Amino acid sequence: MDKEEINVLRNVPIFAELEERELEKIAKLGVRQKYKKGNVVVIEQESGAALFIIVSGKVKIVRMDEDGREVILSIFGPGEFFGEMSLLDGMARSASVIATEKSELLMIHRRDFLELLHEFPSVAISLLAELAMRLRKADMQIKSLSLKDAAGRVANVVLMLADDIGIFRKGKVEIEDLPLQQDIANMAGTSRETVSRMLNMFVEKGQIQLDGSKITINDYDAFRKEHV
Ligand code: CMP
Repeated sequence: MDKEEINVLRNVPIFAELEERELEKIAKLGVRQKYKKGNVVVIEQESGAALFIIVSGKVKIVRMDEDGREVILSIFGPGEFFGEMSLLDGMARSASVIATEKSELLMIHRRDFLELLHEFPSVAISLLAELAMRLRKADMQIKSLSLKDAAGRVANVVLMLADDIGIFRKGKVEIEDLPLQQDIANMAGTSRETVSRMLNMFVEKGQIQLDGSKITINDYDAFRKEHV
């Protein structure tokens, strides 16, 4: 058995409570797949027959609005999973998933995954906990989009990106490879110009630093307190 594969699975939160023997079983079920930056892994509205676990790399979960504009719902990195929704409810894929960098994924077929959930209740419980967390995040996004002004909506997107891909260090958060300002605008339901204006305002207030495609939030808790 490939030791590296087991180590990858050990670091997947939903498998945290499984023993070596059980991880080996899952490793045998999984099919490793490599994707290049920009490759589409899952297409919205298609039927879904597999769950994916990210071994390395990063993906974005996107939906298209009526005008064909892409809205990023979330960004996932190593150890995280996607594709569970259509496996669980049997409906079409709820969103598209695109690799935003070179990525390696472990694909588990629907039947095998459903069997795993029956066999290992700890996996099912962790999966539910993760889904609850994603729902909380979606609630926050809905509230932000319906109640906040442009500054609040842009701040909420920055906070969401911090939670998804930020590196936390001593109260600061660094977000490398920030999505384009147009992506942030689509996520915040505003224009690119407004995003640029709001980010510059946060810089002037000393709340963030901008450096190319990197943002640093100087005091994550304070920024969150002001905008959530
Ligand atoms: P599925 O519908 O099978 O395929 C698309 C996947 O994107 C979906 O499963 C989830 O894993 C993921 N997804 C859809 N909506 C969201 C969201 N709002 N936040 C995080 N992930 C999501």
